Amino acid sequence: MKNKVVIIGAGLVGATAAYAIMNRGLASEIVLVDINKERAEGEAMDLNHGAAFVKPVKVKHGGYEECRDARIVIISAGVNQKPGETRLDLVKKNTEVFKKIIPNISKYTREAILLVVTNPVDILTYVTQKLSDLPQNMILGSGTVLDTSRFRYQLSDHCGVNPKNIHAYIIGEHGDHEVAAWSLTNVAGVPFKDYCIVCDKDCATHDFRDKMSEKVRQAAYEIIDRKGATYYAVGLAVARIVESIFRDEHTILTVSTLLTGEYGIDDLVLSIPSIVGSRGVEKVLNLTLSSQEEEELLKSAGVLKGIIQELDI
Ligand code: 2OP
Repeated sequence: MKNKVVIIGAGLVGATAAYAIMNRGLASEIVLVDINKERAEGEAMDLNHGAAFVKPVKVKHGGYEECRDARIVIISAGVNQKPGETRLDLVKKNTEVFKKIIPNISKYTREAILLVVTNPVDILTYVTQKLSDLPQNMILGSGTVLDTSRFRYQLSDHCGVNPKNIHAYIIGEHGDHEVAAWSLTNVAGVPFKDYCIVCDKDCATHDFRDKMSEKVRQAAYEIIDRKGATYYAVGLAVARIVESIFRDEHTILTVSTLLTGEYGIDDLVLSIPSIVGSRGVEKVLNLTLSSQEEEELLKSAGVLKGIIQELDI
């Protein structure tokens, strides 16, 4: 099977994901599908004009039938947050959009991994699980892969260390109830609280930690207030997940995935460190958290469960 990616929704996030996937040389074919066909066509033309600068890739626009031989179908269609809106404010409208999209994809493929990016991503990944009869490992969301990257960036900036040497996770909801898993955070294998001595700054305090977690939680709002939308970092996050699937990397990423008892949570999608490879989510890691983190994770789960109960799916 060729490394074909179909992207449903060619708005800023979908098109930037296509650009990131193309630029990293991950796919042999990328197809953009959008109800606005001209937009999808224009994005495909623009991307194709960069063909001389990247590894061989064919970029097209088309319909759902393109899913037939895709390895990954990325779903980034739906309405976006406006300034002042939360991700959860989008849930009803985007659930209705998904009720149209998922059956259209299912008509053409049972082989492709479905990667949900539209917000609220954890709930819409759950909605996709309910609307599709694929095995649960084949449906995942971009989750807090982006927030985790934001967290690693903030810590790397503070400590003056490459973000790749910082192991840290944001878990729970990709949104206002996300949880910074400080107990799992380490630099070069050294627990963060011990690394602070090496770093010799103020990072051991609760105040520092609260400020850092809040900065990550507020990041999208800060960007949306300034430029109306976020798309570069999420595009790179999507490309990173695609890479992990195509290369069967078994990389640990905080994707949105269905929980079946892990952390005492059942029948709910949350962003949890999981092993991602060619079959999608290969294993959800049931890690030991601090009691405060566990409590926050359950709170995050409670909020999402409450919203899901109101949905007609
Ligand atoms: C972000 O976190 C809005 O979910 C999007 O950038």
